Amino acid sequence: MPADPAALRLALAEDIASANPTLDPAWCDAIATVPRELFLGDAAFRLTGTGWEPVRRKETGEDEWLRMVYSDQTWVTQVEEQDAADTTSSVSGSPTSSATLPSLVVRTAQVAELQPGQRILEVGTGTGYSTAVLSHRLGPGSIVSIEYDPGLATSAATHLHDAGYTPTLATGDGLQGCKEHADYDAIIATCSVRSIPPSWFWQLNDGGSITTTICGWMLAAGLIRLVLDDEGTAHGRFTADTITYMLARPHERPPSPVFFRLDGDTRHTVLDPGLLESWAGRFVAQLAAPSAELMTTSTGIILRDVATGSQAWTEPDGQTWTVHQHGQLRLWDQVEDALSAWQKAGTPALTEFGMSATPFEQTVWIGSPTGPSWQLPI
Ligand SMILES: C[S@@+](CC[C@H](N)C(=O)[O-])C[C@H]1O[C@@H](n2cnc3c(N)ncnc32)[C@H](O)[C@@H]1O
Repeated sequence: MPADPAALRLALAEDIASANPTLDPAWCDAIATVPRELFLGDAAFRLTGTGWEPVRRKETGEDEWLRMVYSDQTWVTQVEEQDAADTTSSVSGSPTSSATLPSLVVRTAQVAELQPGQRILEVGTGTGYSTAVLSHRLGPGSIVSIEYDPGLATSAATHLHDAGYTPTLATGDGLQGCKEHADYDAIIATCSVRSIPPSWFWQLNDGGSITTTICGWMLAAGLIRLVLDDEGTAHGRFTADTITYMLARPHERPPSPVFFRLDGDTRHTVLDPGLLESWAGRFVAQLAAPSAELMTTSTGIILRDVATGSQAWTEPDGQTWTVHQHGQLRLWDQVEDALSAWQKAGTPALTEFGMSATPFEQTVWIGSPTGPSWQLPI
């Protein structure tokens, strides 16, 4: 029997509802209604052993294509700013745009506590799929969506028009908000940020909220909803979700030169570098060394500070580990102090972490604002 998009949409919505029983059914109705195939166009990327390989609708055949479209998966549509539709061979690098997996689109909306009647800014239109889901649920008059990449913004406008949705669309750097249509009751980002951009505070109504993933260059992320108080400080706690969005383009790492290990100063550590493999452990390490990237090897970890070139790397040494640190920053010392504070607090999960933020100072803490804390780079 040929694949029926309406039946596939409904099945997807039902799966999402049963995996997330507290989700408002109105969001599942949006998933069951928005035709995702209009947003994916005719090509996407799939990660293979040789890199990102374009997959085309005309090659998969209609049935397989529709099954891909209605699987609960993110489909990467652009890698290093090359669109899947214009690519004939495998490409390497990082995704720069995608159609977010439907369960995450509605989960983000759930965390954001979006309600009809609110004025909402979405940062990162991408294919327009999440914008359509928001428009279906909340009414297109509620939604302003901004996309950095002009080509993607144009395609998203076509997709949304073809699907019959009419949100307000803008092209530009959403880290500046979208002043033309401000103020907003809620800002949600479908790209991650290293810290909350100051303009998001300026463009929020009193009591408004910001929902985003806070991510950094170790690619550790936490989803959070922050609510603005009367004094202009936004407060919130991270959720248990182990999800992330790609980093906002202006918050991406600058390109790094090829890495060479340097011996530097050497010492022993009893703190297991494997702690950085856990979701919360890596998040803590990233807080302690916010401009460092993390690489893992078969024998240990490498930290490299993108700003100063400082490095630290570990190797096993019987029951302990040897650490080599080179450069102006003592990266392992920073990470070790933070991980020790986290262990002392009982190695809590991200739900025990919170954030207090103004345009000038942003702190992530464990337990309460008076607990162990770290400043985010603004
Ligand atoms: C994960 S994709 C969004 C997917 C989209 N929600 C969907 O369902 O199709 C992230 C998008 O954010 C965009 N982006 C990155 N940095 C941005 C910025 N500073 N302002 C606006 N958009 C940005 C990227 O170009 C990309 O299209």
